[in-house]
Amino acid sequence: MGIQIAPSILSADFANLERDITRVASADWLHVDVMDGHFVPNLTLGLPVLERLAEVSPLPVDAHLMIENPDHWAPRYAEAGATSVTFHLEAAEDPVRIAKDLRALGARASVAVRPGTPVDSLLDVLREFDMVLVMTVEPGFGGQAFMPETMPKVTALREHATRLGHSLRIEVDGGVARDTVPTVVEAGADVLVAGSAIYGADDVAGEIAALRALGERHSRA
Ligand code: DX5
Ligand code: ZN
Repeated sequence: MGIQIAPSILSADFANLERDITRVASADWLHVDVMDGHFVPNLTLGLPVLERLAEVSPLPVDAHLMIENPDHWAPRYAEAGATSVTFHLEAAEDPVRIAKDLRALGARASVAVRPGTPVDSLLDVLREFDMVLVMTVEPGFGGQAFMPETMPKVTALREHATRLGHSLRIEVDGGVARDTVPTVVEAGADVLVAGSAIYGADDVAGEIAALRALGERHSRA
């Protein structure tokens, strides 16, 4: 299915978002981190901002909701223009219901887990999801160190999806850069979020190409 790159605008210049979105136009997704100051100890942006970003973005929006009450809010982000909506399993009352609601709105349904959250409860309902996001840092901030102990979850999800014949996307987010891409891709991830690695590079488009090439080289597929 190919490796996809999703630059996180958490590392962009928030006073120049449209410019910084244009700079990553050669990627596959625009990763937008929505934080509510409750589910995580940081606050970013909400529906009205995401709606405008989706309008000006040349890339489809991959919304990562680090918020409470996704049962109510996740579908609103699909309505606001996100092509893919990821909500956190830890915050969800009825994850399968949310996934069905997202798909009914024409969005891709995705669920995220913190580094310490097991994925066992997802295995039986994996077909309800287009993607699972395995957090490789504690959600909340960019620029943190990658946690390799999360990789067995990626492998378990990939093996289960393969057994089911389900073309599940597996996304990793946090500390993804040239030095960690081989590890995440060999474990079975195929959607790579990178904030500081991409926006911190002198040549943003070159970094996107380099991460993609490295990922393709190490990919299982
Ligand atoms: C963290 C966010 C990430 C963040 C990643 O909670 O979900 O998307 O921007 O930043 P880096 O790539 O710098 O670790
Ligand atoms: Zn994110």
